[in-house]
Amino acid sequence: MKTLISGGTVVNSEGEYQADVLVDGARIVSVGLDLPRDGAEPVDASGAYVIPGGIDVHTHFQMPFGGTVSCETFETGTKAAAVGGTTMVVDFALQAPGDSLMKTYSDWRTMADGHVVVDYGLHLAVTDLSDATLAEIPLLVDEGVASLKLFMAYKGSIMVDDATLLRTLRKGKECGALVCVHAENGDVIDVLVNEHLAAGKTAPKYHLTTRPLEAEAEATRRAIMLAEIADAPIYIVHVSCTRALDEIRSAKDRGQSVYGETCTQYLALSTDAFDVPGFESAKFICSPPLRDKSNWPGLWAGIRTGDLSTVASDHAAFNFAGQKEMGLVEGFHKVPNGCPGVEHRLLILHTRGVVGGEIDMPKLVDVCSAAPARLFGLYPQKGVIAPGSDADLVVFDPSVDAVISAATQTQNVDYTPYEGMRVKGAVRKALSKGEVVVSDGSWVGKAGAGRYVKGTPFVA
Ligand code: URP
Ligand code: ZN
Ligand code: ZN
Repeated sequence: MKTLISGGTVVNSEGEYQADVLVDGARIVSVGLDLPRDGAEPVDASGAYVIPGGIDVHTHFQMPFGGTVSCETFETGTKAAAVGGTTMVVDFALQAPGDSLMKTYSDWRTMADGHVVVDYGLHLAVTDLSDATLAEIPLLVDEGVASLKLFMAYKGSIMVDDATLLRTLRKGKECGALVCVHAENGDVIDVLVNEHLAAGKTAPKYHLTTRPLEAEAEATRRAIMLAEIADAPIYIVHVSCTRALDEIRSAKDRGQSVYGETCTQYLALSTDAFDVPGFESAKFICSPPLRDKSNWPGLWAGIRTGDLSTVASDHAAFNFAGQKEMGLVEGFHKVPNGCPGVEHRLLILHTRGVVGGEIDMPKLVDVCSAAPARLFGLYPQKGVIAPGSDADLVVFDPSVDAVISAATQTQNVDYTPYEGMRVKGAVRKALSKGEVVVSDGSWVGKAGAGRYVKGTPFVA
């Protein structure tokens, strides 16, 4: 089947221009002015942008974490992503202690295959390294898992030590797997948490004071230094503050292959969310924690300069009822960490970034689609509007006024941290490999239509 998207402004990371986009089957076949309809199904993009579908490289669907499992499934999560203009996710397969990496990979494939509604890829989060698991890394790369993740936080559960970091960085370099790091000093956080609890400080707001930005900056610096020793590239996930960003910038200035990711919540939410009495603010507990809004200008500047390459959602959804409430009795440390946001990433980036005058549309496409595709071995199959690329396309109307609310969201979670936020823009149409899956903001696709996409090995 052919589809002709006409009358819109095509935006790639390199620039924007008026053009039509002709799709045949799952691929884009031509991009140009006044393309003939030639029997193709028409999609009207007048007054709208036509952008490559968003790629969210940081989601946690069905993730066992903190004594529970994140409530967004691969089906509901990819549906919410598509409704918000994101047509591919790269999720984290999380190694359980004692499991092999290949078992972890295959478990996550089983959870996702046949359920995802748009394409997906996987990173492998290594939590229990041995000689045997290290030897599996090349096998993973053969399977298209071209990125690994290590946690420097969450002591006593998934945190790894510096030896694990160094060994994984070396192996990753050897076989083309980009190592992604959650950079917070877990030992320091553990001391601070215990001190707070001993002093009876158990309210959600104490999540903030037990995870100071120095603990993030220190771990960021340490991770970068270990990558330098290993002569390996490194990708720092969810950079929340300018002190951590400074470490990335300095390393880049020294010529090191370092990449930074920030997330929607660090650009749009702040510690102000905790200025409410009671337990309600547990909804905003994520790690690293929300920071003072004085960090916002520096993070936007980092996006403009390229010191931050990507913006992801770190979608880790836990219902307030029954899941976030796990911290009601003993305190903030029992609240599962994470916030939902896969559906709202593009909308908030457009509102706060483009309408807010921080970035232009090509930059939005770069950080939300093109750079994620390049870094995780998906480009040019994904992340660009060009002949031969997958027809993962979004017709985005920038003129619509909307308000984010749990009552109207597609995400399968009982709240949104962005409740009541006024946003500008709406997804008029989203196509996944040539099929219209979203029309006027509603899901119209087929369950299980998404596929696993292999990432190609990382070349620094
Ligand atoms: O709070 C967060 N970010 N939860 C998800 C797991 C992680 O650290 O990325
Ligand atoms: Zn993390
Ligand atoms: Zn995460």
